[in-house]
Amino acid sequence: MPSIGLSKPLNISREIMPRHVAIIMDGNGRWAKLRGRPRIFGHKYGAERVREIVEQAGQCGIEVLTLYAFSDENWKRPIEEIGVIMHLLEHYLRKERDELNRKNVQFRVIGDLSKLSSSLRNLVLETRTMLSGNSGLILNVALSYGARAEMTRAVAAIAAQLAAGQLKPEQIDQELVSSNLDTAGLPDPDLVIRTSGEQRISNFLLWQAAYSEFYFTPIMWPDFTRDEFTKALESFASRERRFGLTSAQVESSNQAASMQKMESRPC
Ligand code: IPE
Ligand code: IPE
Ligand code: MG
Repeated sequence: MPSIGLSKPLNISREIMPRHVAIIMDGNGRWAKLRGRPRIFGHKYGAERVREIVEQAGQCGIEVLTLYAFSDENWKRPIEEIGVIMHLLEHYLRKERDELNRKNVQFRVIGDLSKLSSSLRNLVLETRTMLSGNSGLILNVALSYGARAEMTRAVAAIAAQLAAGQLKPEQIDQELVSSNLDTAGLPDPDLVIRTSGEQRISNFLLWQAAYSEFYFTPIMWPDFTRDEFTKALESFASRERRFGLTSAQVESSNQAASMQKMESRPC
């Protein structure tokens, strides 16, 4: 049952709301199997869930929502399943893009688009252009995405700049590496959520998630409602991120920050 309007409100202050949430939407196939249905049935219901989570992320003031929709490794799945997933992606974009536009959502894609059909690739690029004037939530879809492939492309791009004499080895720093990744310009994910009970990263944002908080839930993606998302955000809000510092150091910098603001935002 969709829970729009029935969910309990989340009232956490702005500074403990993650700027960037990345979700590994896993468990569609098992969700369908539990119901005695084919895997594609799970993908269909999984796609339905996306609208609600995008809406909630926007309402919560999250800046970036990255959704892992299809991995580089998923190309090895049976051709029929790949076809259905690609069809659902196309269907979702065609159906939702006007609504995303009305909600002021921006759209980005990370991954190797050259492997997509030309119709899906064109639709993705068109949608990106169509929503480019918006200023709200950035919906970032990881599509045909693998972090190792992304990093390999970045290394090749940097090597090409070196070979062309546009760059010196001593100019290579972490910022330069970040700016050659597909996520250039986006903040790193503060929170990575994985549904379905698996506790692995599956080649997702390996560089960017260096200091992310992780939230694993046994809930299968088609059952990941607004309330489940709220639980993940509450879990994030309760954590102390230390980035290598001591707890005392973190507390004193938090005290200095809380002198300035305490804006609260229900969502
Ligand atoms: C996630 O669900 C969707 C994609 C990977 C495209 P799965 O299809 O991986 O579902 P399970 O993990 O087999 O249950
Ligand atoms: C990760 O899920 C990729 C997506 C959710 C798109 P998988 O189901 O492909 O991951 P593994 O194979 O269980 O690691
Ligand atoms: Mg899976």
